[in-house]
Amino acid sequence: MVKDLIIYDEAKQVFHLTNGHISYLLAVEEGKTLASLYFGKAVKAYHGQGKYPRVDRGFSGNLPGSLDRTYSKDTLPREYSSAGEMDYHEPATIVRQLDGSNALNLEFVDYKIQAGKPALEGLPAAYVENDDEAQTLTVVLKDQLTGLVYNLLYTIYRDVDIIARSVKVENQGQKEVYLEKVASMQLDFVAKDFDTISLPGAHVNERHPDRKPVAYGRQVFESRRGTSSHQMNPFLALVGKDTNDFNGEAYGFNFVYSGNHAISVEKDQLDQTRILVGINDYNFSWKLAPNETFQAPEVLLTYSDQGLNKMSHAFHEIIRERVVRSEFKHAKRPILVNNWEATYFDFDEEKLMPIVDEAKQLGIEMFVLDDGWFGHRNDDNSSLGDWKIFAEKFPHGLGHFADYVHAQGLKFGLWFEPEMISYDSDLYRQHPEYLMQVPGRAPSPSRNQYLLDLSNPEVVDNIYHQVADILENNGIDYVKWDMNRSISDIYSVALPADQQGEVYHRYVLGYYRLMERLIQKFPHVLFEGCSGGGGRFDAGVAYYMPQIWTSDNTDAVARLTIQYGTSLAYPTSMMTGHVSAIPNHQTGRQTLFETRGAAAMSTVFGYELDLTKLTDAEKALVKDQIKEYNQVRDLVVNGDFYRLKSPLTSNQAAWNFVSKDQNEVFVASFNILTAAQPVFTKTKLYGLDPNKNYQNVATKEVFGGDELMEIGLFDPVIHQDFTAQTYHFKVVD
Ligand code: DGJ
Repeated sequence: MVKDLIIYDEAKQVFHLTNGHISYLLAVEEGKTLASLYFGKAVKAYHGQGKYPRVDRGFSGNLPGSLDRTYSKDTLPREYSSAGEMDYHEPATIVRQLDGSNALNLEFVDYKIQAGKPALEGLPAAYVENDDEAQTLTVVLKDQLTGLVYNLLYTIYRDVDIIARSVKVENQGQKEVYLEKVASMQLDFVAKDFDTISLPGAHVNERHPDRKPVAYGRQVFESRRGTSSHQMNPFLALVGKDTNDFNGEAYGFNFVYSGNHAISVEKDQLDQTRILVGINDYNFSWKLAPNETFQAPEVLLTYSDQGLNKMSHAFHEIIRERVVRSEFKHAKRPILVNNWEATYFDFDEEKLMPIVDEAKQLGIEMFVLDDGWFGHRNDDNSSLGDWKIFAEKFPHGLGHFADYVHAQGLKFGLWFEPEMISYDSDLYRQHPEYLMQVPGRAPSPSRNQYLLDLSNPEVVDNIYHQVADILENNGIDYVKWDMNRSISDIYSVALPADQQGEVYHRYVLGYYRLMERLIQKFPHVLFEGCSGGGGRFDAGVAYYMPQIWTSDNTDAVARLTIQYGTSLAYPTSMMTGHVSAIPNHQTGRQTLFETRGAAAMSTVFGYELDLTKLTDAEKALVKDQIKEYNQVRDLVVNGDFYRLKSPLTSNQAAWNFVSKDQNEVFVASFNILTAAQPVFTKTKLYGLDPNKNYQNVATKEVFGGDELMEIGLFDPVIHQDFTAQTYHFKVVD
């Protein structure tokens, strides 16, 4: 019999979700209030009384109509709070009602425990392949006056330490309401001294881990850019003071959403910490008529008692195995060459063919044609929205060029930016109303381009047909889906005045709908997400596209921090990396070809330079790299990834990938700046079987797993900046 993952103690009104590794406990307290009881390392069972100690505290009031001064919603650790309850923290939800009030009193009324995990309508979410993998608890809270029902969903997975939370609001009342804030989760911790680790960044500088103490007051990690953004990724960790990659407690929160998000952390008068994760309430208001429902996106939560690597591991597993749906999830992703940094807009069929020929010679498996193949696009000032072939560049049609690429034995990939429109486009001339803009105000350009109003289903339909037509008729094997600006000028002509607060979220739903239609229609096409690199690098996108261009910054040294930071929340199977030319186009830095290879090989691998300009020695290195990557590519996509050394705190970076059976290991280690008098350093591996022996495939030397992990390998002393080593080990008897 399959063991239950969720137990309800009816007498104590305590729910216990546990998979034997982690436990999550919630209780119904006085006033039918749902309280947070515990989240952390698993306990077998809960025998406590399920009640918090009662204390009479000044300025924290009590339940309406009660004479008990020792119980307050303001001091109780809660699971889901609302405005108007005498809880002075930031609430999880705010609802404006027709009488102008915004108070709710969400009381526990019911619960349901079911096998498996329900899908979330219109939204990306983790899934199950069979119902034994997980169980889902739905706790039903109701506000009697408005008839609003909040279904809090909690799914616990059996074999991965993940709890997925989301909220579905139903209007069972008689009147419409306006949802002004609906967090997807709340969790209140009793006094704990936390640090936050967030992933802020910028274009060409994404996801640099930032660690700081949780201080009194409230701090919000958010995006108001309409996308998950380069500037603040929708991920946060709450960690102990001593937590590092290997030791200590870490709570991870990963929001499966690609739009405006807000993660709020608030430390209060009793040193309690409240975390809220959800759609940003900035410019958000959702009209909910009687009998309508609103589904808030999902948050993935994990707890680790062994540092950040274990936290990341849970996210890597759930995203790779149960968020990504593509048939390419475990497959060899083709080693590609992309023409962007090779040619930018300056290309035509004649110029590209020699690059394709060279790619074939070198063993590259796919040619990707980037921006500039459509409309009359010779720079970034025109043609977005016109997904028609630029005849001047492809006089015989794109299909003809695709045939040429295929004839060389390569796959053919194509770039799109489906969410955008240029003033100089036929689409704008025919449908100016598709361009998102506030009536009477000129919209703001960014890269001289504008947003299509994807909140309008008619626009989604138009773009779907244009893109589908190209995919259908030109032998396209891969799509790079770009988005090169943040959203602004929020307004939709398709919505009435009192629903304009829905546009940000409806835009994201339109984007999801567009992708869903395309991936359903073209299941054999490999889709890669991109937003000026990693401007929309989130688990929501992973539901539609298994890989994302990590950053427009292709400099190997800059990539160390970007990839290190990204790996906190996302698997390496989701990241792509390319070897590019030097001086690097973003930083001007000169690095060795080998170093560029080692950084890019730590992700889904490719090239982005003019192959026809390589020297013979460089061509030989490309062949070596492809040979090496062929041996380790399965580890990079499907193995367990562990960070070994942080480029944030040292002059080095290192990580290793271990096969699931612990029989194979790939290590990449980097020394950033050299020194005249270098100290000896070592790279200690992680996640190996201490009892197995591992042979270095290149040198044939044999080491014990324990030896590699405890003693490690001396890093070579090289008097040169920006050096890298890679090692590939296989188990021997
Ligand atoms: C931004 C992308 O990240 C680049 O790789 C390239 O595709 C350009 N856009 C093209 O405009």
